[in-house]
Amino acid sequence: MTSTPTALEVVDGVDLTGKICVITGASAGLGRESARALAKTGAHVILAARNRAALADTEAWIRAEVPDAVISTVELDLTSLAAIRSAAKAIDAIAPAIHVLMNNAGVMFTPFGRTTDGFEMQFGTNHLGHFELTRLLEPQLAMAGGARIVNLSSDGHRLADVDLDDPNWQHREYDKFAAYGASKTANILHAVELDRRLRDRAIRAYAVHPGVVATSLARHMSRDDFTALTEFVPSDPARDKVDVRRDFSMPEHGAATQVWAAVGDDLADVGSVYLADCRIQEDMAPYAMDEARARRLWEISERFCTDASAGH
Ligand SMILES: NC(=O)c1ccc[n+]([C@@H]2O[C@H](COP(=O)([O-])OP(=O)(O)OC[C@H]3O[C@@H](n4cnc5c(N)ncnc54)[C@H](OP(=O)(O)O)[C@@H]3O)[C@@H](O)[C@H]2O)c1
Repeated sequence: MTSTPTALEVVDGVDLTGKICVITGASAGLGRESARALAKTGAHVILAARNRAALADTEAWIRAEVPDAVISTVELDLTSLAAIRSAAKAIDAIAPAIHVLMNNAGVMFTPFGRTTDGFEMQFGTNHLGHFELTRLLEPQLAMAGGARIVNLSSDGHRLADVDLDDPNWQHREYDKFAAYGASKTANILHAVELDRRLRDRAIRAYAVHPGVVATSLARHMSRDDFTALTEFVPSDPARDKVDVRRDFSMPEHGAATQVWAAVGDDLADVGSVYLADCRIQEDMAPYAMDEARARRLWEISERFCTDASAGH
């Protein structure tokens, strides 16, 4: 499962000196590996995550690997709109312009729970948190004069579409697989609508499936869940069948596609695409690329965030 290059190979020869990259969930797994690779390019990398100690560890690890790295850290908890606003302010103080925003943080298959603002935990963290952060950072993205937004999605989006009538699971029995699938579908729809709205300001947006990668994302999975998932995910005849219990890569390779989305020359005039294996993929679920649904999700997300911020 290592036909893709490593993230470090993707940035070989890339010089982003003077540019600024923000990565959410940079304290572990794919975010951490992406941060190391982008630091290698000379970019100023802003690590955003919720655990201060893990952020400090990550910063120290990158500095040991890349001695001239330019790194900042910002505390960001995507389960709270107030915390997201504070993080956006902190990022604004460091970064007048943002060239790459990598919306990477995520949780998977969490037991039912709600964020501080009452959103279902997976939809709230993976989609709405990033929706609000991205909205708040739009001025800095526009200042870059050419910026990319990279949304981490997943082939797990095939598990479910977003129920636009009940995205926060208020009227259905909670299903942790479907809730993750919906949040990852939302990540793609968000990229589709971001690209449509912002491309005139030279901001392009991408959705990425990183592969099946050994990280702490699976912390909520039982042995039975692994079995259920393997049977549940429909295999695409055009691509190799993946057994999540056996076919996985390590973050060094897993982070390659999201880093490619951030720096790849081939993507300079492209956006609103789904990427995997360092290529544009056509084989996503059709509902995840539906432009009309992308607009509706945007309107719903905007309303949720506005109402919650106003204390409704
Ligand atoms: N690994 C895979 O096989 C795979 C496959 C498809 C898609 N993806 C996607 O790739 C992305 C990265 O996942 P990963 O595999 O690197 O997982 P990971 O190792 O668990 O890392 C996730 C990161 O997100 C952070 N995070 C979680 N909740 C947060 C919150 N409320 N606020 C701020 N940060 C938060 C985590 O911080 P804490 O440590 O503090 O929780 C951690 O830094 C996710 O969006 C995931 O859906 C992964």
